[in-house]
Amino acid sequence: MSLDIVILAAGQGTRMRSALPKVLHPIAGKSMLGHVINTARQLKPQGIHVVIGHGAERVREQLAADDLNFVLQTEQLGTGHAVAQALPALTAERVLILYGDVPLIEIGTLERLLQRVSEQQLGLLTVNLNDPTGYGRIVRDGSGVVNAIVEHKDATAEQRLISEGNTGILAVPGKRLSDWLGRLSNSNAQGEYYLTDVIAMAVADGLVVATEQAADEMEVLGANDRIQLAQLERHYQYRAARCLMVQGVTLSDPARFDLRGEVTVGRDVTIDINVILEGCVIIEDGVQIGPNCVIKNSTLRTGAIIKANSHLEGAEVGEGADCGPFARLRPGSVLGAKAHVGNFVELKNATLGEGAKAGHLSYLGDAEIGARTNIGAGTITCNYDGANKFKTVLGEDVFIGSNSALVAPVTLGDRATTGAGSVITGDVPANTLAVGRAKQRNIEGWKRPVKIKK
Ligand code: UD1
Ligand code: CA
Repeated sequence: MSLDIVILAAGQGTRMRSALPKVLHPIAGKSMLGHVINTARQLKPQGIHVVIGHGAERVREQLAADDLNFVLQTEQLGTGHAVAQALPALTAERVLILYGDVPLIEIGTLERLLQRVSEQQLGLLTVNLNDPTGYGRIVRDGSGVVNAIVEHKDATAEQRLISEGNTGILAVPGKRLSDWLGRLSNSNAQGEYYLTDVIAMAVADGLVVATEQAADEMEVLGANDRIQLAQLERHYQYRAARCLMVQGVTLSDPARFDLRGEVTVGRDVTIDINVILEGCVIIEDGVQIGPNCVIKNSTLRTGAIIKANSHLEGAEVGEGADCGPFARLRPGSVLGAKAHVGNFVELKNATLGEGAKAGHLSYLGDAEIGARTNIGAGTITCNYDGANKFKTVLGEDVFIGSNSALVAPVTLGDRATTGAGSVITGDVPANTLAVGRAKQRNIEGWKRPVKIKK
């Protein structure tokens, strides 16, 4: 059966106290609405219709994609009114309603719900709550058949005792929707057109309301303020951490791990505390990541070791290579197998060949460094003249003396050596020592200055 999905995202979110529209607030680095759209896509619907209102232009701008139909709800007159705005675009046999501020809803739950929909039946997702205050209540008759949803503000004292709450998520036969929505009235406590009134109409029309329960409360929780946003964030991270542990990753503390993107992992990976993985990260077998590392859009090959407080972006760390503590690998950094980068070394667009080393305090930018080459402490590639960038090429088994400045463009042949403190402005042939520093002078009998007594 064909499927249209409507995502309600027009509300203001006053309690966020933010200039940012509520649905654009991020969970794990991605907007709440972005998460919902992602989940919606996995159901392969014929259309995804996003109802926007508050901050509409920003929402549209940030999330625009070919497969999304944005529908403007100029005034927020209620959830029923919101869905009605999308009606002209709805043609599928089933319509699923989701919410831009309920980001953790899971695909499996929605699949179960959709299986319950037919021409004679609709699917309603409910949740049992310890404190159902504020939620619409699911009203069942003596034999457990659902009759209606009553909003908290419209409910009698007796109805408020019902602990089964409406999640708002429902799936209905598409054909019926325009009739039901057309008949909604706003004569209720909030003066709104309630989507929930559709339930009683369906029952009156002889349809069956089939309910499904969400696996846990967090899955259907909306974020109305930043406290709830943080709760959802933690739950998302707890889920992500669990998923990695199930795949064979050791996390020193699953409560101090953050994933803001996608990660693929091999076996026997260990991740110490306070590590943030962002974007697309690939971690192969046996990799060890020390505490306080940020790793973004990078690949860590088998057995690589990332020591504490390292920051990697757009980098590749080769098999058995290591970096840190306090290493910074910027985009285009590639460490070959068994290469070593130590503390306070920054790489950008630089390749270190197999077994090459830069142990301490260096900047290596726009550089190609051959196998087994050793970069002394304090070495700097002078790759930028204020307008253009130039390349430094070092052969294999090169030895760069400490505190050398390599003024690019410059090329050093295999087994070349530079004396410590050299400024290398010209190419150095293979097997050659280059010394580019002032010669030492010793001044005998030199008197140190003395302080003048007042
Ligand atoms: C709604 C349900 C309630 C349910 C609860 C779960 C109705 C009438 N009530 O109540 O039964 O228990 O959700 O959280 O549906 N929205 C629009 N346009 C509008 C109105 C709302 O896009 O005109 C969006 C909001 O941005 C929000 C969502 O719909 O994301 C829910 O609206 P809200 O007014 O918060 O509904 P609740 O009162 O929470
Ligand atoms: Ca709400």
